[in-house]
Amino acid sequence: MKTLRVGLGERSYDILIERGILRRAGEFVASKGGKAMVITDSNVAPLYLGTVAESLRGAGLQVRSVTMPAGEKSKSFSSLPRLYSLALDFGLTRSDVVVTLGGGVVGDLGGFMAATYMRGVRFVQIPTSLLAQVDSSVGGKVGVDLPEGKNLAGAFHQPACVLIDPDVLDTLPPYYVADGMGEVIKYGCIKDRALFETLEEINGDRERLFEHIEQIIYTCVDIKRLVVERDERESGERKLLNFGHTYGHALEKIRHYELSHGAAVAAGMEHITRISESRGQTVPGCAERIGRVCRAFGLDLQARADIDEIVAAVRNDKKSSGEGLDVVLLHDIGSAYTFRTTPEYFRG
Ligand SMILES: NC(=O)c1ccc[n+]([C@@H]2O[C@H](COP(=O)([O-])OP(=O)(O)OC[C@H]3O[C@@H](n4cnc5c(N)ncnc54)[C@H](O)[C@@H]3O)[C@@H](O)[C@H]2O)c1
Ligand SMILES: [Zn+2]
Repeated sequence: MKTLRVGLGERSYDILIERGILRRAGEFVASKGGKAMVITDSNVAPLYLGTVAESLRGAGLQVRSVTMPAGEKSKSFSSLPRLYSLALDFGLTRSDVVVTLGGGVVGDLGGFMAATYMRGVRFVQIPTSLLAQVDSSVGGKVGVDLPEGKNLAGAFHQPACVLIDPDVLDTLPPYYVADGMGEVIKYGCIKDRALFETLEEINGDRERLFEHIEQIIYTCVDIKRLVVERDERESGERKLLNFGHTYGHALEKIRHYELSHGAAVAAGMEHITRISESRGQTVPGCAERIGRVCRAFGLDLQARADIDEIVAAVRNDKKSSGEGLDVVLLHDIGSAYTFRTTPEYFRG
């Protein structure tokens, strides 16, 4: 088993990565009896809920599960009243635990419910999508969408622990594997040249990717852990994780979320690197390599939008303060920095 500890004082927690850890979930969730409310979704429940629930019961926990319809729509503010009611009906108290079993939707929704129910109960993340395993389950950002937009109500609530079972990725549809690879490639770009080169070598081969996946997840989580430890509330270093995301978010919004987040971020990483190269701010050749590796892993870089629309959307984005905008650029593959500019930068 690979273990990483996120050191955040009294909010510190372990991230455990092991094939088959789902079957041992009870060992890590229960320190002393009590109740576990498992929040999952309609795709994940038939595959893995039985295994997890059995393990939790085996550890002496009383278990109640809630299965949300799969998809972003469930990560809605309007899902919360039902979750609170079910928790109250179950008699969940502050000494009990919420377990989120699923992708980023379930993790963000269940985490927000746990952050707010009775002013905060413990929660354990069991991420089952690649994106959730390498990104959303680590860092303590939880939240829901409002009718006006995504992630508009949220909190920082660190999990009590994160259990990552790479074996569950066997059932993850290829579209979502590619989606998660967008973030994996991003970690290589900003912090880890060796990871990027491993991805270049694997060149999109699913079988070889899955042979290496445990180590790849570990590497990505370790990078996110370090960044989160140094900057829990995203004032400085955590911004580096936004590489490709300013353009990516704009593109997602303009295209009404019809393309995957990973594909949008891939387009963003390539676009901004092409510009920074042309301005002499990045070693030449990086954009080409990023584009090649993204395409190899099934991320379509064709998705573009009118640059006027992109600039306008970036202006409206919450991450730009006034006219100034911090963008993340690469010195070279594996090394990133922030650069203060304006949304006009995206015109090249
Ligand atoms: N909190 C954070 O820091 C953070 C970071 C990035 C993204 N997010 C959020 O994460 C969400 C996206 O996460 P996601 O891509 O995991 O979406 P998701 O939770 O919708 O999962 C993607 C799809 O895969 C299915 N699935 C998950 N695991 C599976 C498995 N093992 N086998 C078969 N099917 C499986 C799900 O049912 C769903 O259909 C967004 O809402 C985004 O805002 C949060
Ligand atoms: Zn992202």
